[in-house]
Amino acid sequence: MGLISFIRKLRQIHAQRPFIPAEFGESRQVRTLLNRRSVRRFLDCDIKDEEMALILEAARLAPSTVNMQTWSFGVYDTESWRQTFGRSIPYGAHRAVLVLGDITRVKQATDIFPDSPLVEYTVSVINASLAAMNMTIMAETLGIGSVMLSDTGKTGFFSAAYLKERLKLPSGAYALMTVVFGYPKDRDVPMPPKFEIEDITFSGIYRQTDTCRVREWLSLMEAGYRASTFFSSFQAKLRYYRENLIRAERELRDIILGERPKT
Ligand SMILES: Cc1cc2nc3c(=O)[nH]c(=O)nc-3n(C[C@H](O)[C@H](O)[C@H](O)COP(=O)(O)O)c2cc1C
Repeated sequence: MGLISFIRKLRQIHAQRPFIPAEFGESRQVRTLLNRRSVRRFLDCDIKDEEMALILEAARLAPSTVNMQTWSFGVYDTESWRQTFGRSIPYGAHRAVLVLGDITRVKQATDIFPDSPLVEYTVSVINASLAAMNMTIMAETLGIGSVMLSDTGKTGFFSAAYLKERLKLPSGAYALMTVVFGYPKDRDVPMPPKFEIEDITFSGIYRQTDTCRVREWLSLMEAGYRASTFFSSFQAKLRYYRENLIRAERELRDIILGERPKT
C-alpha cells in the first residue's frame, strides 16, 4: 500500500460518522447508542459499586428466548480477577464480567432440551450475548467505557477449555466472552471501518455483498491496523486468529458434543 493511498484510507476511516437524521440529532439516547465504541484504554480509577450494580441489572433484565435467562455472570474486580486468573484484567480495566451461556437452570427444572447440544449452545449464546450488549449500553449511559473480549489474557482467543477447567464449569455452562469496564482515557475513540447500510441489508431474498465492497473494507481494516500498530499487520493478526480459531473449534467440539452419549 503506497503512502498516498494509506493516508487516503486513514482519512476515510476518520470521516466515518453515525448517520443520524436531523430530527434525532438532539437525542442523548440516540447519540449514546451510536457513539459507543470499544474502549481499550482506561483511567486508573475504579468505577463505583452502584454503577457496577446497574450494569449487572441491565444484564439481568435483558430479553431471552421464552424468558429462559440462559446466562450466568462471573463478576470480578482487579483483586478477584488476579486471584482467579493470576494476571491483571486486560487493558488495565477495573471491573470485568465473564459472560456464560448457561442452560443448567433450565435443565434443573424442565426437560425441554432432551438431547439437542447445538440448539442448547445456540440459544444460550444468543441470550447471553444480548445480556452482554445490555451491559455495554448501560455502561455507556453512565459514561463508563467497555470492550467485549473473546480473551481473558490467557491465550489470546476464546480459551473455552482453560475457562471450563479454571472456573469448574459444569456441563451446560459455556464461557463466551469477558466484558471489561472502566472510565475511558480517550473521549473520541475512532470508529473502525463499518460497512454501509446497503452492504448489509436486503429486501426480499438474500443478496450477497459486492466483493469489491468487501475488499475495500478489508483494505481499510489493514490501513487502520497499520496506523495503530506499526510493527504488525492486520494479515499477521488474522493468521494468529486462524491458529487460535482452529484450537477453539477443537475445544468447543469437545465441550459441546464430548459429554453426550454417542448415537
Ligand atoms: C464477542 C466479541 C469478542 C470480542 N473480542 C475482542 C478481543 O478479544 N479483543 C479486542 O481487542 N476486541 C474484541 N472485541 C471488540 C471488537 O474488536 C469491536 O467490537 C469491533 O472492532 C468493532 O468496534 P466497536 O465496538 O468500537 O464498534 C470483541 C467484540 C465482540 C462482540
